[in-house]
Amino acid sequence: MKLRGAMSIGQQGHLLIGGCDTVELAQQYGTPLYVIDEAALRQKAREYSRAFSHYMPGSEVIYAGKALLTTAICRIIDEEHLSLDVVSGGELYTALAADFPPERIYFHGNNKSSSELSMAVAHGVGRIVVDNSHELELLQEIAAAKGTEVKILMRITPGVEVNTHAYIQTGQFDSKFGFPLNTAETTAAINRAARQMPNIRLVGLHCHIGSQVMDLRSFGIAAEYMVRFLGELRDTLGLELEELDLGGGLGIRYDGEDEPPEPEDYARVISQRVTAACSEIDLPIPKVMVEPGRSIVGEAGVTLYTVGAVKDIPNVRRYAAVDGGMTDNPRVTLYQAVYEACLANKAAEEPRELVTIAGKCCESGDVLIKDILLPPVEPGDILAVFSTGAYNYSMASNYNHLPKPAMITVYRGMSDIIVERETYADLVRLDRIPPRLAGSRRTAAGSVKSAAAR
Ligand code: LLP
Repeated sequence: MKLRGAMSIGQQGHLLIGGCDTVELAQQYGTPLYVIDEAALRQKAREYSRAFSHYMPGSEVIYAGKALLTTAICRIIDEEHLSLDVVSGGELYTALAADFPPERIYFHGNNKSSSELSMAVAHGVGRIVVDNSHELELLQEIAAAKGTEVKILMRITPGVEVNTHAYIQTGQFDSKFGFPLNTAETTAAINRAARQMPNIRLVGLHCHIGSQVMDLRSFGIAAEYMVRFLGELRDTLGLELEELDLGGGLGIRYDGEDEPPEPEDYARVISQRVTAACSEIDLPIPKVMVEPGRSIVGEAGVTLYTVGAVKDIPNVRRYAAVDGGMTDNPRVTLYQAVYEACLANKAAEEPRELVTIAGKCCESGDVLIKDILLPPVEPGDILAVFSTGAYNYSMASNYNHLPKPAMITVYRGMSDIIVERETYADLVRLDRIPPRLAGSRRTAAGSVKSAAAR
């Protein structure tokens, strides 16, 4: 087991993150608990900014909020001078609620509704990344009705298949996202956006090839295809587009054996490929943008759980069940993701027992980690699962009516709550009992009260 970022082991043998004792955090805030190491997050954001401004002056780093978005996270991203990618009215609302500057917001999504587009236009978001012709027409109408001009990028699927889980490949032609590269229909749509839509200003193209990508060559190939396409648009339509957004997707370390490339390597590869491809066709170098999500927040997150039932099936397996599971981390069931963990209260002890970590949902598939070596596990131990900052909270559910965990930041020995733990009352907050069921009150809500009184 390799500790991540600013983790260490304290004098009591407890796991420390950001200078805080995780066993004390579990006591103070309860479990399951999402813990975000703010220094680690800020450091990744800075590594990105530094690398891209060094290799590609004038470029822009846009944090992909789908990985993890809360109002406090928006504030941190803003303080680090990154821009923000949102994909729904809800994410846009969150950014605006945190006073994130709208001009640094990029609005994505393959099926934005008319009300979402109106909201984005009304708030003056920086760019709308248009995914398809229907959206293009809708946006022109909305912008015309508001008497304003909207800057857009058009999303292209470059036909690059990457080596990652099929559910998170997005750059292949057979995709629900974007306009396929270099078809007559795509060129016609681009021409229409650039020439025939008075309230649309087409400033560039966008692509995104997939997520948890470890091989930098895939990013380089996509960059090259996109530059060549910019060249074709210049040659065939006489268009000079200034911006090229290459999406996100850089992988992170889940397994201790993973060796993800650094933002620096990523920036260098993109810069080399874009520069070389531009010079081959004598194209001015466009402004390049990237949209990392996972690689900014992923390794900064740890989830703390309390171990409950521990059971042995002789000669088969030892299970330790925790107080969360697929509700707070659906990635294992969805993508067969592999996670590493340690016992936070026994972090200095030798891992010598093979156990399987089960969640508490009513599904056999609700297993967080299959076969991990840990020190002997007992009820009451605190399990810390690593690299849970991205696509955990943002994909969490209330299955089996488990309230969503709280989230805290840890920073220089201090901890702060950034998302409150959901309560049972939250779980029924939006429920309504129609009047025709009011008569059954005594047997429904009434019995809850009387059972509680007994
Ligand atoms: N830009 C666009 C247009 C995207 O679709 C995505 C991710 C990103 C940027 C950020 O990608 P990242 O740097 O985080 O890889 N739920 C899946 C991941 C889905 C990614 C969707 N799009 C998972 O848990 O693995």
